Amino acid sequence: MRDVVVAIDGPAGTGKSSVSRGLARALRARYLDTGAMYRLVTLGVLRAEVDLADAAAVAGVDVPISVGYDPDEDRAYLAGEDVSALIRGDEVTRAVSAVSAVPAVRTRLVELQRELASGSGSVVVEGRDIGTVVLPDADVKIFLTASAETRARRRNDQNVAAGLPDDYDGVLADVRRRDHLDSTRAVSPLRAAEDALVVDTSEMTEAEVVAHLLDLVHESSGAMR
Ligand code: DC
Repeated sequence: MRDVVVAIDGPAGTGKSSVSRGLARALRARYLDTGAMYRLVTLGVLRAEVDLADAAAVAGVDVPISVGYDPDEDRAYLAGEDVSALIRGDEVTRAVSAVSAVPAVRTRLVELQRELASGSGSVVVEGRDIGTVVLPDADVKIFLTASAETRARRRNDQNVAAGLPDDYDGVLADVRRRDHLDSTRAVSPLRAAEDALVVDTSEMTEAEVVAHLLDLVHESSGAMR
């Protein structure tokens, strides 16, 4: 199969990250987690202690993302510290929607994402605006969805497994809050590209989704020849 560029978008809780990693492995493709980049900037902003509501101040925080996010290792660093786990924590998760809504932050990261995606070989790029903004010419565009309830259940299960309190109602409220923020922001709102293949993962296991996406990639790349 020739090299392919696959864009995977969708809201949190659709299994997007695990599925994207699984697809990249199956395709022997590089993998780019753009959410990790927004999370890394957010951690930098939190550490700089600027007001999250002050877009100019947020945009002014200089987080060295090009050295801080390592796509080959799928790890994140800030001032030499490995913050890969920290950027998935509650504090960053709560603040990341506000930081990723700042236009100057997006402009900077989109440019870097395009650069990283343009290397050789196949690549799977995962995020919210990959098919619509970052890589509108991607060979295959996939938009993953799942009901808010399913997404909240998955995240609550993950929380419980990680030793956090069992709080389905709280998680569901947070899923809805983030959906709303992500889909109504002025810059790059979360939506499926017109030519994206929409896959509802509510009733599918992770392995089933990966297998299905592999089929879609093979079908599309057959059509591309
Ligand atoms: O996929 P994730 O949960 O790690 O993403 C974290 C946040 O970053 C999420 O609230 C939306 C934002 N994000 C974005 O705005 N654009 C992207 N391409 C990727 C993530």
